[in-house]
Amino acid sequence: MKFHHVLSLLLLTAVTSSQNTSCKPGDNCSPPDCRCWNDDAVPGNVPVKETPQVIMVTFEYAVNKANVDFYNGLFQGSVNPNNCPAVGTFFVQQTNTDMAVVKSLADNGHEIGVMSIDGTLPATGEQWRNNIAQVRSAAVAQGVPEAEILGVRAPNLRPGGLDEFTAMAQEQFLYDASCSTSKFVDQSSLLWPYTYDFAPGIDCDNGEGPEQEFPGKWQVLVADLEFNGTKCASPSACTQVATQRDAFDLFYNSFIKHYEGSRSPFMIVINPQWVTYDFKREGTRQFIEYVRAAFEDTWVLSVRQALEWVRQPVPNANATADYPPWSCV
Ligand SMILES: *[C@@H]1O[C@H](CO)[C@@H](O)[C@H](O)[C@H]1NC(C)=O
Ligand SMILES: *[C@@H]1O[C@H](CO)[C@@H](O)[C@H](O)[C@H]1NC(C)=O
Ligand SMILES: *[C@@H]1O[C@H](CO)[C@@H](O)[C@H](O)[C@H]1NC(C)=O
Repeated sequence: MKFHHVLSLLLLTAVTSSQNTSCKPGDNCSPPDCRCWNDDAVPGNVPVKETPQVIMVTFEYAVNKANVDFYNGLFQGSVNPNNCPAVGTFFVQQTNTDMAVVKSLADNGHEIGVMSIDGTLPATGEQWRNNIAQVRSAAVAQGVPEAEILGVRAPNLRPGGLDEFTAMAQEQFLYDASCSTSKFVDQSSLLWPYTYDFAPGIDCDNGEGPEQEFPGKWQVLVADLEFNGTKCASPSACTQVATQRDAFDLFYNSFIKHYEGSRSPFMIVINPQWVTYDFKREGTRQFIEYVRAAFEDTWVLSVRQALEWVRQPVPNANATADYPPWSCV
């Protein structure tokens, strides 16, 4: 056995034993509302070759007239296999955000989620609740349907554990998309979204999941990207990316691990700094355009749409033909 195989086995054993293994797929946890963190089967046992590969492009912090064209430009020319436009998810803060711009993103099929009021990390359960409720209210006041605002992204990809999940439960949010991991990034170890029917799920690199159960509340993980030996949850943190080709490769190399693995959804985190560089923005756009053109079973969807598939899986051909959760707005 090669050394790195031994090492990854040891790592996996060490990681697994620190997690709660009492969740038993299909036994004490069944779809659509429960999924174990340690379940590596494709939902619905759809054969891997028939599993649609979902890419979730996610945005954070303030969204306004100064940056929305950069964001929209990333999807330019990319259409999903069912001929609906490629879309993403915007976890917005309130400060410096133009909610009319947010409404127009929602009108164009993008998902709206919440971060915090001013982009800083809430410190208590009460602050979490006030923050996520207030940002949602501001979007709803502008006409974004409340029932469609279901996701939370913690500032700095630093989930707030019990405080955050208590607030999410009180305010009826469905999922968190803040838990980054440098451990579950290999083709064989990539994880599917899971629920907190059993706590605490996996250890996040920053922050933490809740140490008590939140049945039916989901975690949609951010698996680290890797570039030239450096790992990063947010692409801006892979500082060696120096050309458009590097930016393309950064995303493509992680995408292909998902695609050639079990096809768990691939989350991309785009922060405001990233798109201010022309070559990073163009490499990202080129990546999205390329995977859509080259892979007939790859989709660029919102986190909410990805979760709907995990709850209600269908083979790629069915999704292409007629699958309401992925149809155009
Ligand atoms: C595992 O989860 C179950 C149910 O959530 C809980 O009762 C048990 O105490 C947990 N065990 C550990 C070791 O955390
Ligand atoms: C990749 O890493 C090596 C060793 O750290 C370094 O010498 C090289 O310049 C890096 N390449 C790029 C493109 O950053
Ligand atoms: C997928 O489509 C086929 C052919 O129309 C149908 O027989 C099958 O039941 C569908 N599967 C699911 C899970 O909807």
